[in-house]
Amino acid sequence: MIKRLSVNDILRYKTKGEKITSVTSYDFYFSKIIDSTDIDMILVGDSLGMVFQGQKTTVPVTLDQIIYHTSIVVRSTERPLIVADMPFGSYQISVEKATENAVRIIKETGCNAVKLEGGNSVVPVIEKLVSIGIPVYGHLGLTPQSINKFGSYKLRAKQTEEAETLKKDALLLEKAGASGIVLEKIPANLASEVTSLLKIPTIGIGAGSGCDGQILVITDMLGMDSQLNFRFVRKYADLSSITKKALNEYIKDVKEGRFPSEEESY
Ligand code: KIV
Repeated sequence: MIKRLSVNDILRYKTKGEKITSVTSYDFYFSKIIDSTDIDMILVGDSLGMVFQGQKTTVPVTLDQIIYHTSIVVRSTERPLIVADMPFGSYQISVEKATENAVRIIKETGCNAVKLEGGNSVVPVIEKLVSIGIPVYGHLGLTPQSINKFGSYKLRAKQTEEAETLKKDALLLEKAGASGIVLEKIPANLASEVTSLLKIPTIGIGAGSGCDGQILVITDMLGMDSQLNFRFVRKYADLSSITKKALNEYIKDVKEGRFPSEEESY
């Protein structure tokens, strides 16, 4: 039986100077394919609201939806560490409510850790979760759950003041017991600096090559959306065109009587 990676294995990657690879996943087939590769970590991100449900933001994603998708991902994989996003509203109300919700995620899905967005304000939640045995990843920089506060998905921490706050927040999250921190859409030199300040790993998305690891949203990196053109996303495939081409061939074959053939019939 393959042993699933733990947060401590991921921590050791930083000590060894080996890069951490991570993608998001939400469903059975993609998770199975990811599991057949050497990807270290899967995040069941609340990005599922946008790339799976077609919502405009991640804000509407519910705890039950995260639990539903995370159980599928856990069931479909053996090796990668599975981290579930705590959705908006599930950890901001009180430490008690956050604990109840994180316990539900861990118990009902079998995932290994949770991730939550924010700095200073989430420290008490991280301390509590870690104290009861739930590993936590932080998330700084662009925090999509705060879209209504910031009004855009632009680069964060460009100005000195915000960059200084981010550095302080990263150290606070580490002190609170976080197992790692996702750094989203911040200048590469700031991400490198934060990475060297911390003993825990940083996982970057739009944060340059100086992070300890990288994460991409699976549907972005596989080119499911032909319109999408983010600077920080490298498209490793063009699934949108491949899928469209296959569907068009199928339509043509059915319309012109070429499918099904005799061999494909009983
Ligand atoms: O929800 C998500 O997919 C994320 C990644 C962008 C890091 O938080």
